[in-house]
Amino acid sequence: ADLDRFQSQLLTWFRLQDRFLPWRQTYDPYHVWISEIMLQQTQMDRGVSYFNRWIERFPQVEAVAEADEQEIFKMWEGLGYYARARNLHRAAKKIVEEFAGELPCDIDLLRSLPGIGPYTAAAIGSVACNIDIPTIDANVARIFSRLFDIDRPVRETQVARAIEKVACDCLPSGRARHWNQALMDLGGLVCLPRAPRCTLCPIQEMCLAFARQTVQLRPVPLPK
Ligand code: ADE
Repeated sequence: ADLDRFQSQLLTWFRLQDRFLPWRQTYDPYHVWISEIMLQQTQMDRGVSYFNRWIERFPQVEAVAEADEQEIFKMWEGLGYYARARNLHRAAKKIVEEFAGELPCDIDLLRSLPGIGPYTAAAIGSVACNIDIPTIDANVARIFSRLFDIDRPVRETQVARAIEKVACDCLPSGRARHWNQALMDLGGLVCLPRAPRCTLCPIQEMCLAFARQTVQLRPVPLPK
């Protein structure tokens, strides 16, 4: 019953506040892939402008595969981590050669592509293909550490495993696309690291750290 409320309140909040982000218009797997790689290293507003420029120049995976590396780097200029741009280029060639130009909707196949690790595969698989798999980054770990008032460092292996388990248990089957993005948005807009906006939080009433006034102490950092 509590889980039902947690799920429906967060999903309703997401539906009502849904941000206009270009890759959320069609959920084209190619768009989702580019957005996920770009957002690993830049803020949302800069990410959106780089994304739009990229898609204008490279409307399909084929255009990336056919471009010179120099031009790929030029479109990436200012984002840093050029290894990511090189991996995008390599992955695009592989997608054209091995997957007929379509990103595969399969977690293991996504992971076989250059630059796509476990987190990015889960993000593309859930957001683009609606595969039931959680996406756990620092934002999502922070939300769970507060929701359950976890008093041990979230980066300890055992704690991280426990968070992974609750994240799997909480994921509403068949709703991963909206659910994972709801958690990402909650972490990016409301459940902020330093100045969380608890008064705006759709799940405040079930947040143990809020009830115990320990929100500022969560997540517990690793000891030095
Ligand atoms: N950060 C990375 N991917 C995101 C997404 N799809 N929505 C919101 N924030 C994100």
